[in-house]
Amino acid sequence: MEIFLDTADVAEIRRAAQASLIDGVTTNPSLMAKVAGDGDPRDLFVEICEVVKGPVSAEVVAIDTDGMVAEGRRLAELHPHIVVKVPLTEDGLKACRTLRNAEIDVNVTLCFSVAQALLAAKAGATYISPFVGRLDDIGHDGMELVAEIREVYDEYGIETRILAASLRHPRHVKEAMLLGADCATLPPAVLYKLMQHPLTDSGLQRFLDDWKKLDKEL
Ligand code: E4P
Repeated sequence: MEIFLDTADVAEIRRAAQASLIDGVTTNPSLMAKVAGDGDPRDLFVEICEVVKGPVSAEVVAIDTDGMVAEGRRLAELHPHIVVKVPLTEDGLKACRTLRNAEIDVNVTLCFSVAQALLAAKAGATYISPFVGRLDDIGHDGMELVAEIREVYDEYGIETRILAASLRHPRHVKEAMLLGADCATLPPAVLYKLMQHPLTDSGLQRFLDDWKKLDKEL
């Protein structure tokens, strides 16, 4: 399963990329607004693309098809790593089809049902982003949606990649892996939690304490 970092924070992206922990990045308008400040958001997308060797989702903010297509084309011209992100609306799906016909990769975002995921695939989506945590937030089982999409996509031989999104803790990531999501996007805090285990820490401490008794260098 590919791991994407869900942030627009270049320092975080650089840290994870330098450790070869990530295969790409996803952003959304809220994440961009947190860090873009007075700068041109397009420059920030280019900076992110230069740090990570993989797809970088950049979301449109127009809500009509023509506006999304125009923004999508401009975003795609910024860098070959850009994947244009469009919302799962009627206009978004039409924009998805037009952008895909122009061979631009598209991530269809804000997916909350398996029927929506099927429609995104019909529109040629490169990625579908089911938002697991936001479904959990309203008392649904977000991970069940990932399972349903996997089943339907496999049943019909659909190649759209399932990008598990809105993941809030390591258990979400484990479940996404086990369900066969193609990719998962995680906030930096969740990525580093994946690496941690108390038995790793205590085991390392014991090895180091035992080695000290030898009083030798390597
Ligand atoms: C995915 O592409 C979104 O940017 C993200 O995963 C949303 O996560 P949130 O629900 O924690 O905001």
